[in-house]
Order: sequence, then C-alpha cells, then structure tokens
Amino acid sequence: MKKSFIIIYLFVFALISCNKQREDSIELRINKLIKQMTLDEKVGQMNQLSGVGLSEDMIEMIKSGQVGTLLNEVDIETVNELQRIAVEESRLGIPLIIARDVIHGFKTIFPIPLGQASSWNPEIVKSAARVSAQEASSVGIRWTFAPMIDVTRDPRWGRIAESFGEDSHLTSVMGVAMIEGLQGDTLSHPSSVASCAKHFAAYGATESGKDYNTTWVPEIQLRELYLPPFKAAVDAKAATFMCSFNDINGVPSSGNTFLNRMILRNEWGYNGLVVSDWGSIEQMIPHGFCKDINDAAKKSIFAGIDIDMMSNAYSLNLSELVQSGAVSISMIDEAVANILRLKFKLGLFDNPYTPKPDNNPFYKPRSLELAKQTAIESTILLKNKNNLLPLSENIKKIAVIGSLADSKIDQLGTWCFDAEPENSITPLQALKEQYGSKIDIVYEPTLLYSRDKSDLNFKKAVKAAKESDAVILFVGEEAVLSGEARCRADINLPGAQSELVNEIKKSGKPFTMVVMTGRPLTLEKEVDMADAVLFQFHAGTMTGPAIVDLLFGKAIPSGKLPITLPRMVGQIPIYYSHKKTGRPASNITFIDEIEVGAPQTSLGFTSYFLDAGDTPLFPFGYGLSYTTFNYSIPQLSSTSINKTDTLTVFCRVRNIGEFDASEVVQLYVRDDVGSLVRPVKELKQFKKIFLKKGQTEIVDFQITAEDLSFWNSDMVKRAEPGSFTVWIASDSRSGSDVNFILE
Ligand code: BGC
Repeated sequence: MKKSFIIIYLFVFALISCNKQREDSIELRINKLIKQMTLDEKVGQMNQLSGVGLSEDMIEMIKSGQVGTLLNEVDIETVNELQRIAVEESRLGIPLIIARDVIHGFKTIFPIPLGQASSWNPEIVKSAARVSAQEASSVGIRWTFAPMIDVTRDPRWGRIAESFGEDSHLTSVMGVAMIEGLQGDTLSHPSSVASCAKHFAAYGATESGKDYNTTWVPEIQLRELYLPPFKAAVDAKAATFMCSFNDINGVPSSGNTFLNRMILRNEWGYNGLVVSDWGSIEQMIPHGFCKDINDAAKKSIFAGIDIDMMSNAYSLNLSELVQSGAVSISMIDEAVANILRLKFKLGLFDNPYTPKPDNNPFYKPRSLELAKQTAIESTILLKNKNNLLPLSENIKKIAVIGSLADSKIDQLGTWCFDAEPENSITPLQALKEQYGSKIDIVYEPTLLYSRDKSDLNFKKAVKAAKESDAVILFVGEEAVLSGEARCRADINLPGAQSELVNEIKKSGKPFTMVVMTGRPLTLEKEVDMADAVLFQFHAGTMTGPAIVDLLFGKAIPSGKLPITLPRMVGQIPIYYSHKKTGRPASNITFIDEIEVGAPQTSLGFTSYFLDAGDTPLFPFGYGLSYTTFNYSIPQLSSTSINKTDTLTVFCRVRNIGEFDASEVVQLYVRDDVGSLVRPVKELKQFKKIFLKKGQTEIVDFQITAEDLSFWNSDMVKRAEPGSFTVWIASDSRSGSDVNFILE
C-alpha cells in the first residue's frame, strides 16, 4: 500500500515537473520568436480571416505574414497547402491555426446544445464533443468556437438553441464537459481541438430576446448568473475566449476592459487568447462607441482582444497606432504571445500538417451509436396520459403525421455548416426500417414545412388517424427558425400546425405529439390536446432511430428541461430561480373568473398574471419516464454546520414502476434570509442514476459553505450564517424540503 502510494506520488510529481518544463520551454520559444518579429508580422498574427481557398491574394498574405489564423477552411488539401505556404514560404515559418464553428458535431451531428443540456449527462456531452473533435481535426481544424455558455432566460432569442439553458450551474457543468471533450487529454494530440468559451459576456441577456441587442446587467447579477460558466471554463483550461456582439451597461464587449482585462485576466488569471466575434470590433462604430475603425482598433487592443476576426481593424491600424505611441508595443507583444502560445500548445510548430486518414473518419458506427444515445437522453417526456407510451409492437397500423417526421435537414438544427442532411435518419425512415415489415405505416406530411398555413390536406391526416391503431403527430420548428439572428416575438407553433393538432384531437383517436424545435415554444393548448408528448430540441443525425426506440419502449425517456417552458410569451422572462417577492402569488383569480363589475379590491394583491397565473407550463428540471420514481424525504448528516464543515444530504430514490430507467436527481438549496433578496431556490448539484425496476438507491450530495455563498453588495462572495432549505427532487417544483443552519 505504502509502496504503491510512493510510486503514484513519484509519477504525479514527474508529470507535473514535465508539464512545467514543457510550459517553460514554450515561453522561451515564444520570447525568442517575438524578438525576431517585425511589427507588421506581429499585427499579422492578430488578424483572422475567413478562408477563400487558394486565392492569390490569400497566398500572398500568408507568405508575407499578414494573417495568423483562418476560419472556415474545411478541405484537407487546401488546409495543408495553406499551412505549407505559412511554414515554408513565410519569413519566420509560423504555422496557421484553422478554425471552424463545430457547435454540435462536424459530420455526425449531435443534438443542439440545448438538447445536449436536456440529457443532464455531462459524460455523454463530453463523448459527443470528442467525436466532433476527432472528425473536425481529421481535415485540419484545430480550433472551434464552442462551447457557447451564454446563460439565457429568453426563448425568443434564436441562439438559445446553442446554449445550455437558463441555469448557471447546469451551463457550467455542460460547458466544462464540452471543453474537456474537444480538447482531449492534451492539446498537442492531433485529434485535440482548442475550445472557445463564448460569448464573453451576458450575450444571453439580450433585451427582448432580439439578437445583438443591448444588455443592462448589474454587476451582482453578472457575477452571479452570467459569469460562473466562464470562470468554470477558465478552471477547465479552455484555450480561448470570444467576446460578444452586445454592449454591457453601455460598453460593447469588444471594447470592454472591465470584462476582458480586469475580470478575465487580472481576477481569474487567464492566459489564453481572446478573439473578437465576427466583425465585432468594426461594429463598435455603428454602436456609436467608436468614431472610426482606428478608434475601434485602439479600444479593442486596450480591452485585451488579441485577435480581430474579420474587421481588418488591427491589420489596417495597429502598426500606425504603435508608431504614434497611442498603443504600446508591450500590449502587442502580450497579444502575440497569447496567440503563439496556442500554436505551440497545439503542437503546430512541430506537426503543422494533417495526414490524410486511412479510413473514413466520419459517421463511424460508434459515433452514430453515441449520437443516437445522446438524442435519446436529450428527449423529454412531458405527458403520458393513460400510459399511451410506449406503444405495443403488436399494433397493425400507425399514422405518422407532419412533415418534420421526414425532414432530414430540419432535425439537424441550427449551426452545423458541415452537416450532410442526406445522412440523417428521420423518424419515418427509422420506423419503416424497423417496423415496415410488420406494421402498416401511413405517412401524411399534411403541411409541407413548419410555417405552411394551408389546411388542404387536413382531411387526409384525420382519415389516416381514424383508421390507425396509433397516431404520431410531429410538430415544431424548421432548423432555420432558430440560431443566430433567428429571433421570434411569437413562439407558438408556426404555420397551421396548431390547427392540425386540433383536427387530430377531433378525430377522437389518442395521439402522441412529438415536438422537434430549436427553442422552447408556447404549447399549452397543444399539450392539453395531446395524450402523450415527447419533446426534443433538434436532435441531430440519429433523431429517427432515437424516436422510434422511445416510442416503442426500447429506450426509456430520461431527459429533463434545461429551461422553463412558458405558457405565454408575456411571461418571459420566466425562470425557476426567481427572487422571492414581498407578495408571493396566492388565491389566483384567472381573468374569466372575475365577475363583471367586480370591485378592484375583490381580487387580492399578489404577484401573478390574470391570464397566465403564476406557473410555467413545465418547470425547469421537469421530465417524466415510463416508470415512476419515488423520493423519500431528504435527510441531513446534521441540522447545523459551520463554515468549514461538509453537510451530507441524502434521500432514497426507488424505481416503483415497470421499466429499468435513468433518473436525474436534483439538489436545490434556498438561503432563507439574506442581506440581499435570494432566489426561491437554486440548483446546486445533480446526479443521473440508473435504477432497475424495483431497485432503490440512496443518493447523497455534499454541501459546503462555498455552495451557499453569494455575491453581496460589497461585491464579495460569501455565505451568510442562518437558515437554509434544501430539496432533493425530480424537478424544480416538486419534492419535500428540510432545513439546516449555517453557524
Ligand atoms: C458568431 C460566433 C461564431 C462566429 C464565427 C459569429 O457570427 O456570433 O458565435 O463563432 O460568427 O463563425
């Protein structure tokens, strides 16, 4: 025992000193190189352009050291040739980095990030990111602009699709998982891809959910809600950061010294590189924050933005700004060092080229299996009246209604530029492949696409429903309706889909509604009408096989909402961890219950909407299973702790239903009285467990004072003594609570 301990100790010690030596030698090489570089070559490293293949202009720019990194080149031969020019024909032979947005897959497409968050399974998110990195790096991509860890509470915002939802803790866990998967064990491995924590910061707070809009975020909220995932990314050694398009309290992120220098570098000690967003330096002019491009370049370099993506602000102005003394050379050297450090860490100076793979690196059976499993785990069962699901395999005829049942492109979701829709397997296709020989499958697209407003084919759909033993109605959004700049003020089902749901309801047949969407939708009416609802955020290449397994019970739903589903758009922002008010909702009177001429005083005076009440359609953390889990009242290792103690909270979770299944067990805590008003509850930890039918598990969580701390008005993060309430529950609105005291 003692001997093995010594061996482990020596091994860890050797590993640490080896890493230290490697880092020291990288710093020496950086310093040496910087000394050899001209000012123009330095500025060249800070310039990022979008690839245009082997154009003469681009070749000339690379040869003369006017560009340091390129995005959007995905052809291995072009990548290698551009790299050869940089390494062999530029004066100092500094390699390029090739970057690309690989947001939820390169060729094998996984669920959109909001879907991945619905799995509440960081391991699967990490594995998916590993596959994405392997596929992307096989063509020479060594840097991607993911994960997007912007917390958001606004489903109108199209980029909610790329987010991990409304919660800071869940976003942090998922962001770290993605970073670890992309970057692998060491950045220098040829299959490792540098990650990019984006968009720094508060982009998800965009006013009214309209993209690029202003944000106004008090520092306490910034630190409590929007920054923690970024701090977690620094701790997880995210190689790069990207700033955001929005202004925060009046200062655009690309010129924001407070964020990019004071917090990121000084407070958190980050020494990776920061890239601007596409054209965001130049966009400080229309923002009205900079008078011209020269001013924009100056404000960005002062703010600590190392790379200018597609503004040409640095390439056109930085040299002159240095020569005039407006910008110091040490500022430039610092940025260049950050860029070169990444090039060294990626091993590009030693291995600049990408070998042609012997076998097809894309769509490997294991990758497709993982994509299917991720799609399964990200699907949420919202309703299952009379246990309509799972379907019996003995049914004779099934009606499949709705064009999303067979839309190869739409199931992929937003922002997957390298996806090949022809390789998607749709639900209809999977159903035919697996059950076509024994079940009569009648397909009625009815509407040609999600926005189609025509009711011409409704009769055929109703007829198919009436004549079938099972009815599956697919509704949702086309992929193009979510993502960057794809915001919606109305988040009902587009087109005539709602009317279609109504028609199918009138057929009298029990039906399952499968929702495929890029954002939360307001679905109150439709959920009421449907007997069962499977809800998924666009789930990628393997959507079809995943849905079919879920429909027939070969897989059991285990997804949970990473975001609240509102009843009506007017409830937005609606999120589970809202602050307590002085008049919490009680005695809710709905608008239709108010008597005509009722006096103002007859309704009471508490915090709710006359038309939407006080509850969401479905709360954060919600998701059913085909089985039932029973939670005991949580128990505590002690009813009071001090600031150095660890409290154990545990409860018994029992699978009392008919299926073996997974469950996400969630720990929520409330600070009952604070020097600032605290949220009604906050997610602190969670565990996804698997229980066989009849099996019981004691699930425990450890809580320390750090978990109870919050940013106070002195801008210090501290736990305050007093009473706390804790829940172990299957979603953010259920479960029994217990109390303890922090002394
Ligand atoms: C997006 C970024 C993205 C960049 C490069 C911008 O429009 O905001 O998230 O990484 O483009 O494609």
